[in-house]
Parts: sequence; C-alpha cells; structure tokens
Amino acid sequence: MDLTTKYLGITIKNPLVPSASPLSRSLDAARALEDAGAAALILSSLFEEALVAEEETLVRFLYHQDTGFGEAESFLPAQEQEDFMSSLDRYLEQLVALKQALDIPIIASLNGITPGGWIRNARVLEEAGADALELNVYYVAADPSQSGAEVEKRYLTLLRDLKQHIAIPVNMKLSPSFSSISHMVKQLEGAGADGVALFNRFYQPDINIDSMRLVSSLSPSNSTDALLAMRWIAILYGRTQLSLGATGGIHTAEDATKLLLAGADVVHLCSALLTHGPAYLGKVLQGIESWIEEQGLESLEQVRGRVSQCSVADPAEFERANYIKVLDSYSVSPGAWV
Ligand SMILES: Cc1cc2nc3c(=O)[nH]c(=O)nc-3n(C[C@H](O)[C@H](O)[C@H](O)COP(=O)(O)O)c2cc1C
Repeated sequence: MDLTTKYLGITIKNPLVPSASPLSRSLDAARALEDAGAAALILSSLFEEALVAEEETLVRFLYHQDTGFGEAESFLPAQEQEDFMSSLDRYLEQLVALKQALDIPIIASLNGITPGGWIRNARVLEEAGADALELNVYYVAADPSQSGAEVEKRYLTLLRDLKQHIAIPVNMKLSPSFSSISHMVKQLEGAGADGVALFNRFYQPDINIDSMRLVSSLSPSNSTDALLAMRWIAILYGRTQLSLGATGGIHTAEDATKLLLAGADVVHLCSALLTHGPAYLGKVLQGIESWIEEQGLESLEQVRGRVSQCSVADPAEFERANYIKVLDSYSVSPGAWV
C-alpha cells in the first residue's frame, strides 16, 4: 500500500506527523514515535518570551549587578557567561541530537508574535539541520483599535521577512479566528508559505469562583474538535498549492481518515499520543491502512480530497446549508419540556 504524501515539499512515507508537544523533548520518546511509524516530527516550540526573559536576566546579571563588594564581583561574570546555556542552546542541542538519532524529517517550531529575534533564531535552526520550520503565531488580538487587516499584516510581514533569510520550508500554524480563513491562507501562499497547520488550539483562561482569580488549565481535545479543521481543509483542497496539515482533536484512525478524505496532506497527533503513548501512532496508522484496503483502494492518493468541497455532490453542505440542516434535524428529548 502506498501511503506516501508530500508535506512542505518533502516526500514522507505516510501522513502521520506528531505535532509540537513535550514528546519531542525526549530522545527515547522521539525514537519510539519513529519506530511506531511517525513520518516526520515537529519539535515543541522555542518561545519568544523565554528567550527575551533569559536575555534580560543575563544582561542584568552580567552588566548591571552591583554587589557593593569588589572582591565578590570578581567571582561573577566571565566564567558564568561561558557555562550559561540558554533555551536556544538547549533547543539546538536537542535538534542536533534528534537529527543524528532519527531518519525522519525534523521540523523546528518558533512560537511568538514579533519579528524581532525570530529571523536570527530561524537561521540558527536552519544551520543546525532543521528540515523545515513551523511558526506558531499565538497572537490574541485584544486591542480594539487594531483592525483585522492589521492583524493579518503582522503574520504576512513576519513570514515575508523570514522567507528572505532562510531557505527551508515554512509552515504556518494558524488560529481559526480570521474572518476569511481561505483568503488568509491564499495571502500566506503569496507571501511564501509552504504549508499551513489548521488549527492552533487556543486555551482559554478560566475563573475560579472561590478565589475569584484566573486559572489556567489544559482540557484535553476530543474528536468533535477535529471537525473545524475538516471543514476548512475540505474548502481549501484544490484551491491552494500549500501543504494542508490538520491539527486538533485527531484521536483515532477514523478521525484521521476523515481529515484525509477532506484533503489533508498530513494529520497531526498530539493529545492522543500524550494520553496513550508513542506506540499508539502505529495503531492509528494500521487503522488507516485497513480502511483503505477495505475500500478496495491501493494508495493514499486515491483517498485524499475525495470528500472535499469540490468533490461532493452538494458543495453548499460545507457552508451555510449544513447549519440549516443541523438545526432542522434537532428534536427535543421527550419529556424534557412538559
Ligand atoms: C502539553 C502540550 C504542549 C504543547 N506544546 C506546543 C508547542 O510547544 N508548540 C505548538 O505549536 N503547539 C503545542 N501544542 C499544541 C499541539 O501541537 C496541538 O496543535 C494541539 O494540542 C491540538 O492537537 P490535539 O487535539 O491532538 O492535542 C501543545 C499541546 C499540548 C497538549
């Protein structure tokens, strides 16, 4: 069975690519993912805030520390500067180790909102051997004076600047909060992107009513979450040359198969692997393979996009018609109201 697919211009052996998660921080877990069949691996992100905070601390420590004791000051800087390992150093070390230990493509990930040090960091990641780079622009547009067009420009400027400095493919991990997702994807294509991952999961802050304070919590995704990416991938299939990656709520072989039918080039797994362990990827892969076989098909290429918007009998089902149909189909549980 031919499960090969093209992702960010690279031919990979199958469509299962673990998305950014703590699993890539362990060499053993990454090896286990490769053994289970992962076709590529996305590293957890290097966070802009971590780098900025470290730089500030280091500068304070090295240049602005005034102990008041001449002798004590002589103990501090030079030695520490050499031994200090920044988040970037540790990230590069892990990237190099993964490149040496694994045969599959390794994709580095940057998470931030400003162009600032990104270009410098991206170049270092490229030099260290990253096969591609994913940008997770986790930006919450909270400023009411900022228009949607300005938010989009932020993404596009960042991407254009970056593409002038690196040669490896760039994947944009997007939020679903654009007023026109298709238009945004086309603009990113024009600005030089090689692929998109739909969609980044935005965790919402919660309120603890006892302490009356904000709390952060990570609730696991579920299969229903994947329908959001499914709809947009189905709409985008055939309308863009970009690689289409689906992320969010893909837990089973059935979920993954739906996304492939909609038109995804690759399917990203995260929560499912964190819950069940790296070997679970093999089960999902087997499930996809068995389903293709049951359909009497021989390759992934025969599956991809078969239920995309341009392939179905009624394309409106991916738009407003679905909404009306869903509401019409609802019936109140007997006895609930009287
Ligand atoms: C514990 C954890 C850590 C994550 N770390 C990152 C990260 O560093 N960078 C990133 O782009 N996404 C990160 N993600 C998001 C995942 O890559 C994925 O897009 C998201 O969880 C939705 O997929 P899922 O429903 O399969 O979990 C993380 C998710 C989890 C649960």
